[in-house]
Amino acid sequence: MKNRSLVSIEDYTKDEILQILDRAAEFEKKPIQTILNGYVIASLFFEPSTRTRLSFESAVNKLGGRIIGFSDSGSSSVKKGESLNDTILTVANYSDLIVMRHPIEGAAKLASEVSPVPVVNAGDGANQHPTQTLLDMYSILKTQGTLENLNIFLVGDLKYGRTVHSLLMAMSHFNTTFNFISPEELKMPDEYKLYLDNLGLKYYEHTDFTKYIAEADIVYMTRVQRERFSDPMEYEKVKNVYVLRNSMLENTKSNMKVLHPLPRVNEIHQDVDTNEKAYYFQQALNGVYTRQAIIATILGL
Ligand code: CP
Repeated sequence: MKNRSLVSIEDYTKDEILQILDRAAEFEKKPIQTILNGYVIASLFFEPSTRTRLSFESAVNKLGGRIIGFSDSGSSSVKKGESLNDTILTVANYSDLIVMRHPIEGAAKLASEVSPVPVVNAGDGANQHPTQTLLDMYSILKTQGTLENLNIFLVGDLKYGRTVHSLLMAMSHFNTTFNFISPEELKMPDEYKLYLDNLGLKYYEHTDFTKYIAEADIVYMTRVQRERFSDPMEYEKVKNVYVLRNSMLENTKSNMKVLHPLPRVNEIHQDVDTNEKAYYFQQALNGVYTRQAIIATILGL
């Protein structure tokens, strides 16, 4: 993994994923260290972010490194028309590793192909969000004690949701049974279903959420992403189709946890937040340890 970019979760084998999760557990025990002394990490966010950007910054700061970059590409020379290629070649002069979020699918791959330093994809359009997936898996492992043979419900925007696409691929190493809950307009794309078919893994598609929730080990809620719709009327039709409420958790399994990559809009009612099955804010905290593990591993530290 040393010096390798992380563009897609498929860049890591099952063993490599498990190595990252082991290291994340070590960083959780000892998050303050000095191993990044003298290292500079660049953080280039061409799309808004709270958790990914700030948890990367927190991860680097806690390990003694420095972080440079922008949270708004409008304040960079991109605004003057500089290409992604030229931006990456320039920023690589100033840093040891580049973390990048971009609205265009494939942008992270392009960046990794031109960059002389490793690139970590912090989300590219509706495609992939591999560091989110690793923190999701760390959260699943911590709460379930295993990654094997779980029944995972993916709920909401399964068409444009990059987090569910990456998670599906990674959890397919662990004999997961998937349940896809979405409106017709936001169904899991065929390419991901074919991916599971080829591996002989089971998946089910439902539109009725409440009927099946009692079977879930993990309920992974997602936001319907306004920014991915070209027609605002289409967004209005589906934006509040699934709203998880506390009362809906009454007959669920005792080990069940509710995850969400966040931000949420309306899809989890605030009355769920105090339920012990709500895990999404701890999940966001796990992002710090997981990103410490990713950076340290790629830099060979
Ligand atoms: N989960 C996630 O990617 O959140 P942000 O958009 O706030 O980074």
